[in-house]
Amino acid sequence: MYQADNTRYERMKYRRCGRSGLLFPVISLGFWQNFGGINEFETCRETVTKAFDNGITHFDLANNYGPPYGSGEETFGRIMEKDLRPYRDEMLISSKAGYDMWPGPYGNWGSKKYLTASLDQSLKRMKLDYVDIFYHHRPDPETPLEETMDALAQIVRQGKALYVGVSNYSAEETKKASAILKGMGIHLLVHQPSYSMFDRWVEDGLYDVLKEEGMGAVCFSPLAQGLLTKKYFNGITAGSRAARGTFHRQNTLITEENIGKAKKLNELAEERGQALSQMALAWILSRDESVSVISGARNWEQLKENIGFIEKMEFTGDELERIDEILK
Ligand SMILES: NC(=O)c1ccc[n+]([C@@H]2O[C@H](COP(=O)([O-])OP(=O)(O)OC[C@H]3O[C@@H](n4cnc5c(N)ncnc54)[C@H](OP(=O)(O)O)[C@@H]3O)[C@@H](O)[C@H]2O)c1
Repeated sequence: MYQADNTRYERMKYRRCGRSGLLFPVISLGFWQNFGGINEFETCRETVTKAFDNGITHFDLANNYGPPYGSGEETFGRIMEKDLRPYRDEMLISSKAGYDMWPGPYGNWGSKKYLTASLDQSLKRMKLDYVDIFYHHRPDPETPLEETMDALAQIVRQGKALYVGVSNYSAEETKKASAILKGMGIHLLVHQPSYSMFDRWVEDGLYDVLKEEGMGAVCFSPLAQGLLTKKYFNGITAGSRAARGTFHRQNTLITEENIGKAKKLNELAEERGQALSQMALAWILSRDESVSVISGARNWEQLKENIGFIEKMEFTGDELERIDEILK
């Protein structure tokens, strides 16, 4: 029987999310691509339980993580049953809905009908009574924002989620969403944006809004899906996300120019005495609006390396300038 490591809270660092009582571990584990029905269950189980043993309390899921859709949550549910049930109150579990999930007009986007049904399905797959955070996964240009926010508010009132958030919303959309929920007496607490050295859109307005609204950012694809490791330095490594054909926007990201930048960043990381991946994760947290980075590690070996960034999170002004210069 799994017994969590007694020292699990000694090494991890936790950050408060916006104006709230909620603390996140500075590194979380995401289930997008590597915990589905096609993955080896024991590898998933080892990654999740070792994450927990090292103070990672936050696990990020969504209805359509897999493949196939739903299977990321099913894997999580199996691990919950086998190992983690006794620790439920020590865990922060999130799910989302907003992308295509099932056929027909009620299995996509942002209607109350879709969000409500989807969360009920997610809870069953994950073997949970409630999630800690429920997100609307992406803005819906057709559904009135009031309806989507009303769905989130209802979910909180029903006790199916403790906190709510949005993902992939622009600065302006986030401000509107926050105002609508405030009018319903609910705090929109979390934003889940993409953020990495190769994707800095949050710096252009979103982080200002998060500060104003008392929200925190839990950042996805912090290693630009693996580009901020050494694995693409000499072409596409066998078995990598790019080789598997699941690297999102591969053509615009895995370019000679970006590999050149990653190599220069790696030199700086070596000077700092850490791996490129570790420096890339620490850099995201150099902004205090960033609450946690969601690692999409494929196995424990990768996650273990990534957690090591906690040993050196500080940057000098000179180092931050050099990074900006490289990324120009
Ligand atoms: N809200 C949204 O719309 C949204 C979108 C995307 C992701 N997310 C969330 O964010 C999480 C993370 O996203 P992501 O998977 O793109 O993050 P990521 O951490 O940037 O990329 C993960 C990939 O990087 C590689 N990697 C990680 N650590 C490594 C290491 N130490 N050494 C070598 N390679 C390493 C692995 O690639 P290989 O597989 O090639 O080894 C892994 O599959 C997701 O699981 C999900 O929870 C949310």
